[in-house]
Amino acid sequence: MRGAVAESPDFCPPPPSPRMLPFASCLPGSLLLWAFLLLLLGAASPQDSEEPDSYTECTDGYEWDADSQHCRDVNECLTIPEACKGEMKCINHYGGYLCLPRSAAVINDLHGEGPPPPVPPAQHPNPCPPGYEPDEQESCVDVDECTRALHDCRPSQDCHNLPGSYQCTCPDGYRKIGPECVDIDECRYRYCQHRCVNLPGSFRCQCEPGFQLGPNNRSCVDVNECDMGAPCEQRCFNSYGTFLCRCHQGYELHRDGFSCSDIDECSYSSYLCQYRCVNEPGRFSCHCPQGYQLLATRLCQDIDECETGAYQCSEAQTCVNFHGGYRCVDTNRCVEPYVQVSDNRCLCPASNPLCREQPSSIVHRYMSITSERSVPADVFQIQATSVYPGAYNAFQIRAGNAQGHFYIRQINNVSAMLVLARPVTGPREYVLDLEMVTMNSLMSYRASSVLRLTVFVGAFTF
Ligand SMILES: *[C@@H]1O[C@H](CO)[C@@H](O)[C@H](O)[C@H]1NC(C)=O
Ligand SMILES: *[C@@H]1O[C@H](CO)[C@@H](O)[C@H](O)[C@H]1NC(C)=O
Repeated sequence: MRGAVAESPDFCPPPPSPRMLPFASCLPGSLLLWAFLLLLLGAASPQDSEEPDSYTECTDGYEWDADSQHCRDVNECLTIPEACKGEMKCINHYGGYLCLPRSAAVINDLHGEGPPPPVPPAQHPNPCPPGYEPDEQESCVDVDECTRALHDCRPSQDCHNLPGSYQCTCPDGYRKIGPECVDIDECRYRYCQHRCVNLPGSFRCQCEPGFQLGPNNRSCVDVNECDMGAPCEQRCFNSYGTFLCRCHQGYELHRDGFSCSDIDECSYSSYLCQYRCVNEPGRFSCHCPQGYQLLATRLCQDIDECETGAYQCSEAQTCVNFHGGYRCVDTNRCVEPYVQVSDNRCLCPASNPLCREQPSSIVHRYMSITSERSVPADVFQIQATSVYPGAYNAFQIRAGNAQGHFYIRQINNVSAMLVLARPVTGPREYVLDLEMVTMNSLMSYRASSVLRLTVFVGAFTF
């Protein structure tokens, strides 16, 4: 039945083998199928009469039957395993076979081995409406064109079976443009808060670093990195889209942005502490030399050991405080021929001949100054305790000023100022005899009294 092949080329390319008719893959509709089958039937009858009756060699598709002495048609549907694949069914006919969709209502050739057709198509068309076929009970059931590949949906389209017909639709995320379904670029519609990635049939939102997709998969919410193990060594602050590391007071953030290193506050300024700055983790502290205590945070204040009771002086001694320490001095410092008349005051009795050239009185006083005072500096004021009408007082440094570190500036005739003339550095001490000479206006009377001033110079400037 090769003639049928030659007459169907309008829709099919020439088949690779004339006996294999790939109908279903190229015939678009059932109408054409019917047309072809009619053609096939029309050609079958003449062939039957032309069957050779005396040949021992038969053409393709026939075999010699010794009983009948005729060439007999071979039923390829029985002899060839899987002659038709999948949804196709095998139809034998003279000299060959056909593969047709199972749904195709096929009229078997009149002389074939299969059962006779229920109705010839010309007189008995499919009694069902288009898209339906009769089942065994002769009732019309819907033909699933989609599963039987009887549809003409494009590969890009989805086939949906409908009662009596089918529908070609685009999958979700695709849109029909012309005959084809084309992916919708959802990213054009700004569905995503940050970034959008178009995918075939769908899309995906992405977030910038530091954000994560919200529950709706579109908006981006800030990630609290501080709760997620951000590598801050000390303090972590979440901020929109990122986080910041901070350090405790006294520490500074390392260049890596995460770790903290101690600030050496002491290296910043030499004025942080009056005496000594000691750096500590996260802070610094000021230290003071012995004999001093910290005043507030940075200043050093002399401890008055005589006041605090920290001193150890004997009964006969008096505690004298100075910058950085104290001294125990004999309470009675009067040396012969002087006699003590009160605390600190020694008197040379006029009656004693040894006292004739001596100051009549010596008063002991103590004072303390710091090192390196700017000069000239007024350090001690001397005041005449008794004032005689018409008397005149002169003041001088009688002893202890060999190096000229001090001088006296007279203020008036009853008082004078001891002035430090040169910068001095302690620890050291001076014992200065400040003499007041009292004269009357006639110069007929002259009296001398001494203030023995011990000047302690502390080791420090404070
Ligand atoms: C978001 O995406 C996840 C994972 O793909 C999915 O399980 C979830 O249902 C989506 N949520 C919404 C609201 O679309
Ligand atoms: C010295 O001062 C006293 C008291 O103020 C006064 O009486 C006396 O006259 C003064 N003498 C001189 C020389 O100014």
